[in-house]
Amino acid sequence: MSEKVCNCNCTQNRKEQFIELQPVLDKYAKVPGSLITILQKAQDIYGYLSVDTINYISEATGIKPAKIYGVATFYAQFRLQPIGKYLVMLCQGTACHVNGSEMIEEAVCEHLNIKDGETTEDGLFTLNNVACLGCCSLAPVMMVKSADGDETYGNLTKEKVKQILDEIRERA
Ligand code: FES
Repeated sequence: MSEKVCNCNCTQNRKEQFIELQPVLDKYAKVPGSLITILQKAQDIYGYLSVDTINYISEATGIKPAKIYGVATFYAQFRLQPIGKYLVMLCQGTACHVNGSEMIEEAVCEHLNIKDGETTEDGLFTLNNVACLGCCSLAPVMMVKSADGDETYGNLTKEKVKQILDEIRERA
């Protein structure tokens, strides 16, 4: 049976819309200094912080939306736009940097026609430069996150990274 959702902002529908976030809000909404924790968990659940999500968090915590936006835009870890089906996390940690991560980034940007933080037009890939992924012996490294799980690719070269992205695109 399909779920009935009306377009109004009545409390019940909004509660249903944010049902996965509710336990987080129950735990942290009234705890001072918990905004970043709430935003992190909301982003983990929904992939990004939408206007609706920010407004809902505002209602639950009593913190003004403008202040929440201020925090969300200050920290690079937060995304205000939806991410692609595959989140390409390209390591820019020291070991990867020394082993050519900049060159790998160039290849990814050129191949997908996006920059760090952007999503391809087809909504398939989002690129994020990240700090050490914890497998420095495989530098340069990237991790690709998706609903199917996380896959880590190491010892990357320009050619290898393009081939990996093409393979992911084919099976998407
Ligand atoms: S520096 Fe890239 S995995 Fe550690």
